Amino acid sequence: MPEPRGDLRPLWYEPGRLILLDQRVLPHEERYLEVRSAEAAFEAIREMAVRGAPLIGVTAAYGVAAEAYWHAGEPDLRQHLQNALRHLAEARPTAVNLRWALERLRRVLEAAPDAEIPARMEAEARRLEQEERERCEAIARHGLALVPEGARILTICNTGRLATPGIGTALGIIYRAFEAGRVRMVYVPETRPWLQGARLTTFELSHAGVPHRLIVDSMAPYLISLGQVDLVIVGADRIARNGDTANKIGTLSLALAARQFGVPFYVAAPLSSFDLSLASGREIPVEERAGDEVRRFQDCATATPEVATLNYAFDITPGDLITGFITEQGLLTPPFDTEEIAR
Ligand code: MRU
Repeated sequence: MPEPRGDLRPLWYEPGRLILLDQRVLPHEERYLEVRSAEAAFEAIREMAVRGAPLIGVTAAYGVAAEAYWHAGEPDLRQHLQNALRHLAEARPTAVNLRWALERLRRVLEAAPDAEIPARMEAEARRLEQEERERCEAIARHGLALVPEGARILTICNTGRLATPGIGTALGIIYRAFEAGRVRMVYVPETRPWLQGARLTTFELSHAGVPHRLIVDSMAPYLISLGQVDLVIVGADRIARNGDTANKIGTLSLALAARQFGVPFYVAAPLSSFDLSLASGREIPVEERAGDEVRRFQDCATATPEVATLNYAFDITPGDLITGFITEQGLLTPPFDTEEIAR
């Protein structure tokens, strides 16, 4: 098993090739995938080799840059890339960062002279990556002010260095709060069925030396009821105008328990995760994934193959259960207005 390393990069781009850390085999193996086309980026996103809302946006952008690199000079390049942009947007439905990143590339594509398309696609993807990294730092700065001394923090899924190009969103705040000496304990739910908490978040926290305990998902509300959690901080995949928030399945149970027992519940997310075109969470498409993710874990069958399943990958937490939204622009509360959220 590899040592958890702080320099483990989830992705990097060289002209024509995107190198992705394959998150499906972590923490047991450090394996990399080479992506040279939009189709390969699509597969990597859909099959969860890369995941986390900001990171899948950046992956898709580099997938388009690679596609442009290999097809440079072809007469139908512009149309070819338009098709790739449309296709990539379908890789996963819930995280709006994916569509947001692709929309940025589409605008650059439309404005670019033919000969400059590949270079402009790459430059825009690099800009996106850099901006997401800076957004993480700003989120962590704003979030730090909300973490009390000796905090016991509950989070879910993985929202750190493996979910973003930077230090992360919810986990980025935890890192900065730990450096400031304020974190007593981080509780990490396993996050069935992909176990992003068990495999990725504990991996990151161990490396950083942050005290943490892995718990089963269903224990989290009980832990809150015992008074052992001072605050909950989670990430987001899409936030509607009224604050309703799609995030990893299990988030809603944390929010309900936090409200019941008087614990603050924060969502930490960049503005690229806000979708102000949607009035409420009812309009957010929630991804339903394959039944085998529930019937099995990797090579191990946990139920018989004929068992019927229901596998929503995300849930929607009503905005009024959320104490505040920690963004790069500071702490926001709904209803959001488009001017406030000038992304
Ligand atoms: O299915 P995943 O692993 O892509 O889900 C990830 C989450 O739900 C994260 O909480 C969210 O994307 C925010 S990552 C900064």
